[in-house]
Amino acid sequence: MKVLIAGAQGQLGQELQRLCPSRIDCLPVGRAELDITSRAGVLECVRELQPQVIINTAAYTAVDGAEAKPDLAVEVNAEGTANLAMAAQCIGARVLHVSTDFVFDGAADTPYPSDHETRPLGVYGHSKLAGENRLQQILPLDSVVVRTAWLYSALGENFVKTMLRLMSEREQLRVVADQVGAPTWARGLAAVLWQLLDYPAAHGIYHWTDNGSCSWYEFACAIYAEGHKLGLLEREVQIDAITTEDHPTPAQRPCYSVLDCKKIHNLLGIGGENWRPQLAAMLGELARP
Ligand SMILES: NC(=O)c1ccc[n+]([C@@H]2O[C@H](COP(=O)([O-])OP(=O)(O)OC[C@H]3O[C@@H](n4cnc5c(N)ncnc54)[C@H](OP(=O)(O)O)[C@@H]3O)[C@@H](O)[C@H]2O)c1
Repeated sequence: MKVLIAGAQGQLGQELQRLCPSRIDCLPVGRAELDITSRAGVLECVRELQPQVIINTAAYTAVDGAEAKPDLAVEVNAEGTANLAMAAQCIGARVLHVSTDFVFDGAADTPYPSDHETRPLGVYGHSKLAGENRLQQILPLDSVVVRTAWLYSALGENFVKTMLRLMSEREQLRVVADQVGAPTWARGLAAVLWQLLDYPAAHGIYHWTDNGSCSWYEFACAIYAEGHKLGLLEREVQIDAITTEDHPTPAQRPCYSVLDCKKIHNLLGIGGENWRPQLAAMLGELARP
């Protein structure tokens, strides 16, 4: 089976390539080869490569940047996704698409099921929701949306790597403690996306994160503790809990965005892993020479 990965140089795209099953003919295309905002370019690429499945990990992911560049966020996250969906429709391919917990407003206090009402707070969330909607309109039965959250990997830019850098440079850090979510290793999500190929009739919206939840502050403390244990960090760092009000950002973020993943657990017959051992596994990979 031929599978095209759009956004192949991003952190999830790279994890997908790393885990690609041997039975799959993997066609990774980065932005340089396939800019998803070009409708003609997408159609030409998809017609030429003839994949049975397209996995879309390409996205404009700068949450604060999107507030300053709303047109670009919509062009990539909504129109780009629609371009892939239309091209897939032309050749009869299926699309697996990745979306975000930021489609929710954070007013809940229990995990969001995939059919919960959406209400994004910022441009990024709006643009991602528009992408979900365009995809589902074009390919209602031949597409799967997998929403995820707080993604990190050894291979990309993310909160874990930023914290490790800051913790090696500073003696004191302030981290927001009143936003709660589920840190998720991109490796696990990549494995789930590959597993979804075994369920060709699956369609609609699913949620996938690692299990459990924490605040950014608790996440930072765990990165520090595990990083220390593994010898990635040497100096003592004081980590102070602050509020969202203490750290204003251009984009408003949901204060609670834990996703209920039971639907995908039931489909795939798996239970998922807790975020903390997943973090330790990723950091272990960084620590190995
Ligand atoms: N990171 C998170 O915490 C998080 C949380 C929830 C959901 N998600 C979703 O998970 C998916 C994967 O995210 P990620 O963390 O792997 O993101 P990432 O590391 O930022 O990768 C996204 C990739 O998309 C590429 N891209 C941007 N514009 C493009 C375009 N017009 N055409 C083709 N490629 C383009 C980027 O290329 P350049 O580097 O050249 O711009 C980058 O390689 C995204 O759908 C994201 O919305 C992420």
